[in-house]
Parts: sequence; structure tokens; C-alpha cells
Amino acid sequence: MCGIVGYVGEKPAVPILMAGLQKLEYRGYDSAGIAVVDQEAIWVKKAMGKLAVLEDRLNGTRPDGVVGIGHTRWATHGRPSDENSHPHQDGRGDFAVVHNGIIENYLTIKQRLAAAGHVFASETDTEILAHLVEAYYDGNLEAAVQRVVSEITGSYAAAFICRHEPEKIVAVRKDSPLVIGLGQGENFLASDIPAILNHTRKTYVLTDGEMAVLTRDAVTVKSAATGAPVSKEIFEVKWDAVAAEKAGFDHFMLKEIFEQPKALRDTITGRLTPTGADLAALGLEPALLAQINQVAIVACGTAYHAGLVGKYIIEALARVPVVVDIASEFRYRNPMVNEQTLVVVVSQSGETADTLAALREAKRKGAKVLAVTNVVGSSVAREADAVFYTWAGPEIAVASTKAYTSQLVAMQILALSLAQVRQTLTPDAIGEIVAGLKRLPAQVAAVLAGTGTVKAISNRIKDWDNVFFIGRGVDYAVAMEGALKLKEISYIHAEAYAAGELKHGTLALITEHIPVITLATQEQVLEKTVSNVQEVRARGAYVIAVALAGNETVNEYADVVLTVPQTHPVLAPVLAVVPLQLLAYYSAVARDCDVDKPRNLAKSVTVE
Ligand code: AGP
Repeated sequence: MCGIVGYVGEKPAVPILMAGLQKLEYRGYDSAGIAVVDQEAIWVKKAMGKLAVLEDRLNGTRPDGVVGIGHTRWATHGRPSDENSHPHQDGRGDFAVVHNGIIENYLTIKQRLAAAGHVFASETDTEILAHLVEAYYDGNLEAAVQRVVSEITGSYAAAFICRHEPEKIVAVRKDSPLVIGLGQGENFLASDIPAILNHTRKTYVLTDGEMAVLTRDAVTVKSAATGAPVSKEIFEVKWDAVAAEKAGFDHFMLKEIFEQPKALRDTITGRLTPTGADLAALGLEPALLAQINQVAIVACGTAYHAGLVGKYIIEALARVPVVVDIASEFRYRNPMVNEQTLVVVVSQSGETADTLAALREAKRKGAKVLAVTNVVGSSVAREADAVFYTWAGPEIAVASTKAYTSQLVAMQILALSLAQVRQTLTPDAIGEIVAGLKRLPAQVAAVLAGTGTVKAISNRIKDWDNVFFIGRGVDYAVAMEGALKLKEISYIHAEAYAAGELKHGTLALITEHIPVITLATQEQVLEKTVSNVQEVRARGAYVIAVALAGNETVNEYADVVLTVPQTHPVLAPVLAVVPLQLLAYYSAVARDCDVDKPRNLAKSVTVE
């Protein structure tokens, strides 16, 4: 996700801002920029690409200003470009702003400001902040920022500077992190601690709804809503720089597992209406969706497993046939797709070679292509007819977690959209799913609050060479993802099977105490799944079940049950996979594996 830095003190701001942005590079970005108050003007330099490109642009032209802000952009609204890079300014250049997050109501505000004569230079949601603060400014930057904040909805960490008040930075936060570094005769601002560790370990961590005013000699924190002063405790950072990039987590994978509530919230933001999915969000006309008579989902690895879940959900809700293909198979089997096929390519990186080739084959055959990807402006995003961005933020660990659950939400919203267009669901049924989707972030957070049992179970499976995952229906698709997670980071061989398939051969492999992880969230087939649990228990297996809270049946037969909150059956995969992600993580740690960079694997497979 985006990175913000700020400096106010006695030294030239530019080198401090650039060094701070370098410390935030691990967050992933596609462009960067800085703004400095210099000789009563705002000086801005920004560029698409890595910091080295910005560095080149700075060559020789470095202002001496001692107050400034900087930004690395992870694109959400608006493709990566010079114009879309931050900082953004108002029409007169009196202000500059940097932002991390998503302004949900930016379009209506942009339309109103444009009608009032404001001219916009970018496609971003952020730029409206610069024009709004200009519209509201009457000599008091804090007051103007308070009015801006009272009007916008969504998630934001934002920092403003103004040439009329050259000695300060005003910063606000809601749902996106901001920390203040407390120095001697200087103060710092950053999205994350690594950017300020070289200067100070004394920090204020801003919380939602707070506004900070930084000058070289003081930092005051107020309520952004009321302006009332807020007293903050100093948080002394004990971490070293590397640990700080992981926000105190031991691995990026664990950090990203715990980022899932925010990833889901951001991916859902702005895509649901009280009556269902916002069809425009898909970038596909309802009339086009109505002509679809087949959906083909194409992807690799974990994204393929998201597609498998998508199949069950889309067929259940929209009653349209769905085929799911591994991209490296799809591209060579002369696929039967045409103008009435919606091909959905799913790719976290948007650069997977097989998936990109499959996209091109689908387009060659006349199909409409919807991309579900986590990287704005990626190859898959650029070549698809429409894009549904998962807003999970950069995923650093090779093993995909938050991108996967965000892909599941994308599948659920796509299924809702198709069901609305094909009128296969009643308004009540749609409303139930919409309400369930909105509850998911908090429910995932609740699952994450109880990781002790999973950690204990990982000690039971870490020494096994083979582990089985079984499930029926959409649980089988989740079992596939659970098996891959365990395989790819703990190197334990894991196999997923349709639970009803065991007796056709695999049951021969069930021996005394072998771990069998059973997904049992689907009420409709629960009785059958319980029978499968009894089958393997009778042969000595150690059964770990994942079930919805309140379904006691499986408790009677499994050795241990990991319960997740009650939810709609089509939403259950988002919750059920979280214990499996944690199980894989703790097993890999127990086996002393390189969790974030497993052997032989790459984060993005850009070759065939
Ligand atoms: C996920 O845990 C794996 N690292 C891998 O299977 C990955 O999902 C696959 O390579 C597809 O990547 P993509 O989503 O970037 O296309």
C-alpha cells in the first residue's frame, strides 16, 4: 500500500524525505513524489517508477525548505503515471497533500468541485483533498482540514502542507496507519515506523479520528471532528529496522494473514449497495452480463483455488455454468469459449505468464475478459476488458493469503452481480449475502483472535510427511487451498480430496494417527461429511475439523474442531481458510522453514 513521510525541522527536508521513502519501499509502489515548502511556495517533484527515477528528476534542483511531505504510491484509483503520482496540489499551488487509502465518495465531491471551476490534473481520488482544502481554507489549515475530513468517507492517512503556513504539517488518519516521530527541534511523520527509526524511537501512534499538527518544536494531537486536544502516550519503538517492516510480526506472511480484515474491508468498500452488488464496480455493463451463458475462470495456484470457490458460488447464486481451468492447461486445449463467455482471469500479481497467455487466447476467441487482480496497471489489468481490483495492498510473502481471501470476495460480488442481472435471487436473499459480506472483516478478525489452538495443532502435524485435507462442495475447494498452503511453506506433502472420493482409493493411505483436516462448513452436506470423518477415524486418523460455530454434529466425531463464526454458506470459505493459513504458517515455523521465501518458489511466475 502507499507510503507517507513528513519532516518539519531545521535541516533541508529533501534528503530526509527521500531516505524515509526508501525505508518504505518494501511496501510496494509504482510511483513516488515529494513536496517542500520553499521560499513561500510549494515545490513539488514526482515521477512514475521507482525512487531512482525521482532521484534523477531531483538532480541538481534541491530546495532548501525544511518542511515537506513525501509519498510512494500503490495505485488504486488511476493507473500508475506521473500525473497520478502524489503529492497532489490545488489549482493555485497553495497546498500539497499525500494520501494512503481510498476516498469512497470522491466522485461526487470531484463533480461538485469541477462544477465550481476546479480543474483536476489526475484520475486519482486523492486530488480532491487538495481542492477541498483550498475551497475551505480561510487562514487556518487545521480548521480547513477538519472540514475536509468531515465530508469524505472511506479510509485515509493524509498529510497536508500550505505555503501560507510554512512551518507546519497537518495530518489525519482513519483506517490507514500514521505514526509521528518525536525529535529534538524536529518532528517526523510516516505510514510506518521503518521510515523514522534512523531519527527517533519516540513516537505517537495516531488512532482513527485523530489529527496531528507538527511544527519543529511541538506536536499537538486533536480530535479531527471536534478539535478537542487529545493526550497521547509516547510509544518507545524497541524493534530493529527489519522487524519494523513486518510491523513487529516475525514474518510478512503472518503480518499479511492479520491484514486480512483490512484487505477485505477495502476490497468491499464502494462495491455494495443496500440492494446488492454495485454492477458498475465490475466495469461490465448489465446488458453484457445478461448475455453471458457461460463463465470460464482461469488462473494458477492459489488464484486457481479462488476460482474453484467462485465456480460453486456463481453456479449456486446465478445459475450459470462455470468452468475453472488452470491457465497452463486452458491456453493449450483450444478452449470452447466465445462472445457469450465471460472469462475471469484471477491473478494477484497480474503478471503470471500462463494467466496472461490464457487471457490473450480468450480474447482471440472473442470472449469478454474480466480481470481480478491486486496490482493496478498490471499486464492482466491492462489487457482485460474490465478489471475488478482486490485492494489487499502489496503481498510480500510468496504464499498468498490476504490476496486469496480478497479474491474470494471478488468472486462473491461477481456472483451477486450475475444473480441480480439474471434475477435468480430474491431481494431478501441478496440482502442476506450483502449483510454477510459486510460482517466478514470483523469475523475474520475474530478468527484471528483465537490462534492458540491452531498453533498447538501445528505441533501435532509438523512431523508428518503426509497430511490430507477433505471437504464437500465449496469446502473441497477450500481444502485445495489449505493443502497448497501447507505444502508450499512447510514442505509437508499435503493432498486435498473430495470427501466423497476417499473410498475410491485414497482411503488406502489412511493409517494410524495420520492427520486429516476436514472442512465441514456446508450444512447441506454436513451429514455426509461427518460420515467421511467416521470413515477415517475408524482407520485411526487424527481428525481436525473446521466448522461453523453452533454446528455440534462434527464435534462428536473429530479429535479437535476449529470453529469459525456463523455466516452464509457461500461466504464460509473466507472464514474457513484462515485457520488453514495459520496451520500452514505455524507448521512451517516449527519446521524452521523459510516462511516468506519458500525454496524453489517465486512470488510472481512470469515465465512459462
Ligand atoms: C500462492 O500461495 C502461490 N505462491 C502461487 O500458487 C500463486 O498463487 C500463483 O503463482 C499465481 O500467482 P498470481 O495470483 O500472481 O497469478
